[in-house]
Amino acid sequence: MVKIAPSLLSADFLHLERDVEMVNAHADVFHLDIMDGVFVPNISYGFPIVEAIARKARKTMDAHLMIVHPEKYVERFAAAGADMLSFHLDATEHPAAVVEQIHAAGMKAGIAINPDIPVERLFPYLAQVDFVLIMSVFAGFGGQKFIEETYDRVRRVKAEIDRIGCTCAIEVDGGVSAANAAALVEAGAEILVAGSAVFKAEDPAAVIRAMRGE
Ligand code: DX5
Ligand code: ZN
Repeated sequence: MVKIAPSLLSADFLHLERDVEMVNAHADVFHLDIMDGVFVPNISYGFPIVEAIARKARKTMDAHLMIVHPEKYVERFAAAGADMLSFHLDATEHPAAVVEQIHAAGMKAGIAINPDIPVERLFPYLAQVDFVLIMSVFAGFGGQKFIEETYDRVRRVKAEIDRIGCTCAIEVDGGVSAANAAALVEAGAEILVAGSAVFKAEDPAAVIRAMRGE
């Protein structure tokens, strides 16, 4: 069953508790986008917001680090309440060591790649990580248009996961909506991140149901 992960980047920060309760009631995962203004040309939010969400969250907390030196903050995110932690492959010279560090801190570990990074670069890590995050827009901003080549990239990663027989899940992030969810699941995605499609909708719960194919 596909998991729906609303990105709180598109939440209404003046009504954050309402939006957190919507995720608790209707979705599966809190997707938390952490941007440092260096790895990506945008700054999002940090520990005070993550900790506030954690106090109310009854679903998995998934922090997506778009920061340089992810290894500096692994333990802080564990303490802040993250259950899943991903970092970008090109944000560190030692991805395998960062994955080990995330596991040692008690979280599920994921490696993220932007659309211009060949998916084959993930292959050496598939047996070690719990999930991979395939970006379907360039990391940095919500509300961008879904890149169609993503389907093929997801299929290629899924084929390699099946070939080596590991349990790594595929998460897709960026421009995901009810319009492309079914095709992404068909290609092999198991976790779908959606920011604007969910939070800018009149009826977020209905969008989440539609993304599940209900
Ligand atoms: C982009 C973030 C995404 C973003 C998704 O850098 O990683 O999680 O919030 O937003 P939408 O669904 O609006 O593309
Ligand atoms: Zn994200």
